[in-house]
Amino acid sequence: CGITGYIGEMDAKEILLKGLEKLEYRGYDSAGIAVSNEKGVHIFKEKGRIADLRSAVDGEIFAQAGIGHTRWATHGVPSYINAHPHQSTSGRFTLVHNGVIENYTLLMSDYLQDVPFQSDTDSEIIVQLIAKFSEEGLETEDAFHKTINLLKGSYAIALIDVEAPDIIFIAKNKSPLLVGVGDGFNVVASDAMAMIQVTDTFIELMDKEMVILKKNNVTIKNLQGENVTRAPYKAEIDAEDIEKGTYPHYMLKEIDEQPLVIRKIIQAYQNEKDELVVVDDIVKSMKEADRIYIVACGTSYHAGLVGKQFIENMAEIPVEVHVASEFSYNMPLLSAKPLFIFLSQSGETADSRAVLVRIKEMEHRALTITNVPGSTLSREADYTMLLHAGPEIAVASTKAYTAQIAVLAILANVTAKSRGMNLALDLVHELGIIANAMEVLCDTKEEFEKMASEFLPFTRNCFFIGRSLDYFVCLEGALKLKEISYIQAEGFAGGELKHGTIALIEDGTPVIALATQENVNWSIRGNVKEVAARGANTCIISMKGLETEEDRFLLPKVNQLLTPLISVIPLQLIAYYASLHRGCDVDKPRNLAKSVTVE
Ligand code: G6P
Repeated sequence: CGITGYIGEMDAKEILLKGLEKLEYRGYDSAGIAVSNEKGVHIFKEKGRIADLRSAVDGEIFAQAGIGHTRWATHGVPSYINAHPHQSTSGRFTLVHNGVIENYTLLMSDYLQDVPFQSDTDSEIIVQLIAKFSEEGLETEDAFHKTINLLKGSYAIALIDVEAPDIIFIAKNKSPLLVGVGDGFNVVASDAMAMIQVTDTFIELMDKEMVILKKNNVTIKNLQGENVTRAPYKAEIDAEDIEKGTYPHYMLKEIDEQPLVIRKIIQAYQNEKDELVVVDDIVKSMKEADRIYIVACGTSYHAGLVGKQFIENMAEIPVEVHVASEFSYNMPLLSAKPLFIFLSQSGETADSRAVLVRIKEMEHRALTITNVPGSTLSREADYTMLLHAGPEIAVASTKAYTAQIAVLAILANVTAKSRGMNLALDLVHELGIIANAMEVLCDTKEEFEKMASEFLPFTRNCFFIGRSLDYFVCLEGALKLKEISYIQAEGFAGGELKHGTIALIEDGTPVIALATQENVNWSIRGNVKEVAARGANTCIISMKGLETEEDRFLLPKVNQLLTPLISVIPLQLIAYYASLHRGCDVDKPRNLAKSVTVE
């Protein structure tokens, strides 16, 4: 979920709605705003997208303060009643919440047995508790403070009180939240992008802090009620970077940005002598580690699988890659000197953060590789490496995946050199070739559009097969297709398919094979023959130098180890066109959110 808040002199509803549009990547089941003026609090909410909410908002209403929310359902189905803001029964308090309150049933039975609840959400409990404590005689700030102290779980909260129209009460724990500072106004939002239209100056909030936000004043307090001072920082986001421009979808724009991102990464990690460099402390930690644990979710996890090969091949340090949500239960036996690498585009994923908190308690070192400076995972790790990919807005991740792979290649390369290994690979040169090859692929979109219409028009399922590095890219290709076209897709190791899953191959089942690795070129082609013999509709994407007559498309030649950086592009584009042809919402696929801040 995402939240916004504004207090000042301008038209609050417009600022809140624009902010929510930028936060829609965090969830889009339902949305709402509450604005307060001299006539009281006015709530507008709607099941569906911000566009639906916009048409439900009374255009005439003018208010100088308000709060907003866009939801990714956790407790309670997406519906009008479960949409935020939620109001206390008395109507005095109105609240938006992002996160999960773990002890809400307990709080309900301890304090609120007589209160009629209007929604099925855990969030409503917060506003009802504040109302209860206020009715018992506490000032709003004290009632807010007392309630926050009782909550267990994650929360980013903004509250308005009809009787204190010049204040927004804010609290944060584990869910991201920033205060934005303006001239004669202040704002609050789940991320800086949401408010960059009105200010570029932000103040970070730490867990278990609350804020009394007025139009000319920001007071931060800790849980003990003591004032906290913290200097603001300037967010370096170009407002244009978060617009689609002439593109029909953010996803297509972000696919096309990949060559530029690779060039930016090379620049960002080069010194004046054009050598690749990484902060000394990070390299030292890599060298001291006897084993590296990469922890991530979704697409970032797939980038981690490729990164493992780089680190093991170049720097010769053993690496394990773990899905964050499983790590706590299936924790591996840790080595004596582990180093953790958290891969996360957003830097906010709750599953990854839960592991970071756990391993910090165990006093292990952590490096976060993220696209968002100042994000939670970046702040809480010992070190950060940035992706320099620019804001990624489409829910399906594309440029962040290739950026993660490129940054991991640089980390592996610099560590290897520092360990005195003699590397034949000139990474700056090779990444330059990659950027050019990416450009060629982005200019060949019609080919991939044709493939999507030829192989995936009415299919129920699709298989991606590959061996070695290609296998990891197949996992990502399948995820892309699943996410945005809803075709059931699986990425498989070429050799593994015959051990069971080949039973699913029928006449016409699409099987897309990657064949970019010389050492397995013949064996993957053998697997393609196996499925073709059983009726599959096969499509081989290979690389110049490895071609045979049966190939459907040849990728430009690049270094063998770096092929995932380019072989993923046809798969991203095939998924994009499959989604488009099926009339799906490319940028905002059903049931998903880009940044999942609940475990
Ligand atoms: C969500 C998104 C995925 C993403 C994953 C990890 O589930 O829908 O596209 O890969 O989170 O996100 P992160 O920001 O940690 O890379």
